[in-house]
Amino acid sequence: MSSIDYSEKIPNNVDLASDRRLQRALEAWQPRYLEWWHEMGPADFETKEVLLRTAIGVDKDGWAHFGHLKMPDYRWGIFLAEPQADRRVGFGDHLGEPAWQQVPGEFRNDLRRLIVTQADTEPASVEQQRLLGATAPSLYDLRNLFQVNVEEGRHLWAMVYLLHTYFGKDGRAEAEELLERRSGNADHPRILTTFNEPIRTWLDFFMFTMFTDRDGKFQLLALAESGFDPLARTCRFMLTEEAHHMFVGQTGIGRVVQRTCEVVKEHPDSDPREHGAIDFETLQRYVNFWASSSNDLFGNEVSSNAANFFAGGLKGRANEERYAEHLALEAVMEIPRPGTDSLSVDTVPLRNAMNEVLRDEYVADNQKGVDYWNRVVAKEGLDFRFELPHKRFNRTIGLYSERRFDPQGGLIDAAAWQAQRDAWLPSKADAAYVSSLMAPVHERGKVAGWIAPPAKGINGKPFDYDYVRL
Ligand SMILES: [Fe+2]
Ligand SMILES: [Fe+2]
Repeated sequence: MSSIDYSEKIPNNVDLASDRRLQRALEAWQPRYLEWWHEMGPADFETKEVLLRTAIGVDKDGWAHFGHLKMPDYRWGIFLAEPQADRRVGFGDHLGEPAWQQVPGEFRNDLRRLIVTQADTEPASVEQQRLLGATAPSLYDLRNLFQVNVEEGRHLWAMVYLLHTYFGKDGRAEAEELLERRSGNADHPRILTTFNEPIRTWLDFFMFTMFTDRDGKFQLLALAESGFDPLARTCRFMLTEEAHHMFVGQTGIGRVVQRTCEVVKEHPDSDPREHGAIDFETLQRYVNFWASSSNDLFGNEVSSNAANFFAGGLKGRANEERYAEHLALEAVMEIPRPGTDSLSVDTVPLRNAMNEVLRDEYVADNQKGVDYWNRVVAKEGLDFRFELPHKRFNRTIGLYSERRFDPQGGLIDAAAWQAQRDAWLPSKADAAYVSSLMAPVHERGKVAGWIAPPAKGINGKPFDYDYVRL
């Protein structure tokens, strides 16, 4: 089960050949996917060879093979984590019942909606990032961008497999629409707002892979608990790929911070911008924007949908087994509710607060990244400290979107917000400055002036390796 059959038109470890109808349907979707990739995937690099990793098995270790190939030749396929013997529903009203190998009729619409919402983010991010290759700060970064892109494409495959296999005609229709929506398109946008935000610069790309891919991690962790076993197994394997995306983001920002430290130490009395670096304050504003935008992705603090998903056994908590109790029927969560000039506390049944439970886990994980950047600064002997904005800050969805909050989470009025907005979030001038730095460095072993080289290369290769053959 763990080996992947690459002799098939669609590589897979789900014995696709045994279901001819499904195989034919997916083989009919494949050329449309490739057309989408050609139209919306990384611009201008289709004929270049890139050092890419490809999954060769789904076991914990040694699943990756590295080799140079052109992106359109990447073997996108269908890979699910190994089944667990006698797997049971791990939470909610069906706790302890055998996990479902087919979609239970009563949950069909909810499951389809969960899968489509997750699926839509995958091609969206490829579209958002499609022009970045033209301004990559090094070949190493260019390769990492393309690795992330092909894997997001594979995640789309993973979700389309579920739609085709388990949701019949409407599943196939959803699979078509996934290739038709376009990030940022006014008439036919992607489903979630953050996935319609343009990613114009590499700083945005690193922030996106740090904060927005990490939202993906937590959504996948919650879906990996699903009582619908094929969804759980699909998400478990996607998580192994996702880890690299967050590595790209966290270390990418770490390298920008490193470079800023070097410039600040060399030129202690001048603005780092005069020396082509990105000042700490601007970096903090980008953190504030992308962290808050990604916080929105978890949805409303109080949600009957979230309660239904948990009750039904469709979407659990991240690492559900770490909780002592899996019914969440008696427990409550206290959620501050903003009034005109103060916060009061609502006591909410825990099932209705599951979005908030997941968001809290996510915020704690983000904090580790922030701590890492602060260690980079401290190691250089400087005293700037990055801070994660409070989860109430700059929200456009949920309880806190009605009011304004400062980065520490304090309730403020509209005038105070207006007065500080450009100190807290990237201004037009910040964006123009960061954009002005975006010039390609496509020479082996070279790196742009606003970012430090990485501590290590990919797969044991040195930094000056030809990660992309131009
Ligand atoms: Fe993904
Ligand atoms: Fe990702």
